[in-house]
Amino acid sequence: MDTVVSGIRPTGYLHLGNYFGALKNFITMQEENNCFFFIADYHSLTTHPKPEDLKENIKNVLIDYLAAGLDPEKAVIYVQSDVPEVCELNLLLSMNVYVGELQRVASFKEKVRRQPNNVNAGLLIYPILMSADILLHHADKVPVGKDQEQHLELTRDFAQRFNNIYGVEFFKLPIAYNFGAELVKIPGLDGTTKMSKSDNPNSAIFLSDSPEIIRKKVMRAVSDSGPTASGMPKSQAVENLFTLLQAVSSAETLQYFNEQYDQCTIRYGDLKKQLAEDLVNFTAPIYDRILSLKTNDDYLRKVLREGQEKARESAKKTVKNVREIVGIVPL
Ligand code: ADP
Ligand code: TRP
Repeated sequence: MDTVVSGIRPTGYLHLGNYFGALKNFITMQEENNCFFFIADYHSLTTHPKPEDLKENIKNVLIDYLAAGLDPEKAVIYVQSDVPEVCELNLLLSMNVYVGELQRVASFKEKVRRQPNNVNAGLLIYPILMSADILLHHADKVPVGKDQEQHLELTRDFAQRFNNIYGVEFFKLPIAYNFGAELVKIPGLDGTTKMSKSDNPNSAIFLSDSPEIIRKKVMRAVSDSGPTASGMPKSQAVENLFTLLQAVSSAETLQYFNEQYDQCTIRYGDLKKQLAEDLVNFTAPIYDRILSLKTNDDYLRKVLREGQEKARESAKKTVKNVREIVGIVPL
């Protein structure tokens, strides 16, 4: 059985893009792997969230994940900062990481461009902490998107370097795992190609949106003035609506609206109504579970307590071994 580790930054409610792009893969993976899924709260401190927002976001992300189908009986679900062993591993790994290589990381350079007034050391060491998250549990596979692949390469570099320096075969070299052809990108309702809460806040449908809100958002979605000749290519905004239909509607529905489009008889109002209903049907069970989890703090605490226990058991073993390998041993 492979070990899988992945972290989720607690930056707010999860939307359909997060669901189809990440969460769904986690739900599949938990069936046949030894999975550790954690909420990366230390990592999110690099952008200085308000403490009350951070606290809320951790809870909301946990609720969204559980409601969508992550099962604490199958996967270890925990909050990163509940497992402080990761800090020690971060420190021990950092001794063999060069400042130059961190400065060349694409995500760091992007942050320097985007937030020149807050180039903190946490941003620089972000890849070391992420490696520590992964190596802490000897992961074989790390499900991540394209933007995280460089971090995975670094993780392998750091692991291999550690093994070489100490002449051990201790750390495994984990691979970035994506679902290849199945990798999907969910577009936005605002005509943009990617649903994103950070880049295009008006583009997103959240798992925690009520049916009324979903209907309102979809009816307001950007479209165009309609095809005027058969075979006319779709505009980006209309293509987006069809991609959403493809994600949540039946094959017959998709075919019906495609034919209507080709015959120039399509009424976007009808398409949107159908899309809204299919989205509501899709999210309804998740939405109901979100509502009931919101008022069940005892259960949420229990999930995190048990997750912390299991994650620390694995983490403590790793840190103990690393201490011995580098020579930190009791007198
Ligand atoms: P956002 O862009 O809303 O801030 P994040 O960057 O926090 O979302 O993404 C969290 C996870 O969800 C990542 O694994 C990312 O690849 C996935 N994801 C985000 N948006 C989409 C999307 N529109 N389609 C598919 N996957 C997505
Ligand atoms: N850097 C990841 C992101 O921005 C989050 C993350 C932190 C992570 N630690 C991890 C992902 C370990 C996978 C494994 O999405």
